[in-house]
Amino acid sequence: MFNFFKKAPEIKKLPFLVDIHSHLLPGIDDGVKSFEESLHILKIFEGLGYKKVITTPHVMSDYYKNTSESILNKLHQTRDFLKDKNIDIKLDAAAEYYLDENFIEQLMSNEKLLTLGDNYLLFETSFLNKPAFLEDAIFNINTQGYKPVLAHPERYGYLENDEGLVDNLKNMGLYFQLNYLSLTGFYSKSIQKFAVKLLKRNLIDFIGTDCHNAFQASEIIKSLGTRNMKLLMSQHFKNGSLL
Ligand SMILES: [Fe+2]
Repeated sequence: MFNFFKKAPEIKKLPFLVDIHSHLLPGIDDGVKSFEESLHILKIFEGLGYKKVITTPHVMSDYYKNTSESILNKLHQTRDFLKDKNIDIKLDAAAEYYLDENFIEQLMSNEKLLTLGDNYLLFETSFLNKPAFLEDAIFNINTQGYKPVLAHPERYGYLENDEGLVDNLKNMGLYFQLNYLSLTGFYSKSIQKFAVKLLKRNLIDFIGTDCHNAFQASEIIKSLGTRNMKLLMSQHFKNGSLL
């Protein structure tokens, strides 16, 4: 009960090896603003022990009209910039698809979507309201041969108070990716609480930084000694399998 007073473990490096959620390709979403900012963050990640970053620009028909082509073009430009910058981290790209009609159309048209590792497909939904077609979408993602990964489940209000829905989604084969900073209270106290609950129930498959900018990267460094890290370090995640 009085965990607050327990000494947090001293952690200098994170054990995840591969980050699977971030916004580090400049100018194509609400992530980094420049190649220099991307380099700065990747240097921090390298120092934290990451060997590979699969960055995931937003694809959202209303705001970020990215395509596989625009994302891969920017990936190649970013890799060119990093070439002589003395950084030893592999940079790949996939996407964070927003669950909207456009996404469903793309999915059903058999267009090849950008995926992580062995066909894991990262997607997000509205934060407040459960999409009416959520279960259908997960079913279709599966039947199209992808493995659905829900980005930051701890951030959705509609999941927080519905344990039955959480269990149903997991039973459908949905993977959960927790945002690292959710555990520090960076987003809110209630998100932190829900993140801890999901971890304690062993429902988290992947950890991601969801890093958008240099400030968030500095928050990750600051978090290393905080109290939920012991819980995080006691569990095993699938990140390393994507190396
Ligand atoms: Fe994201």
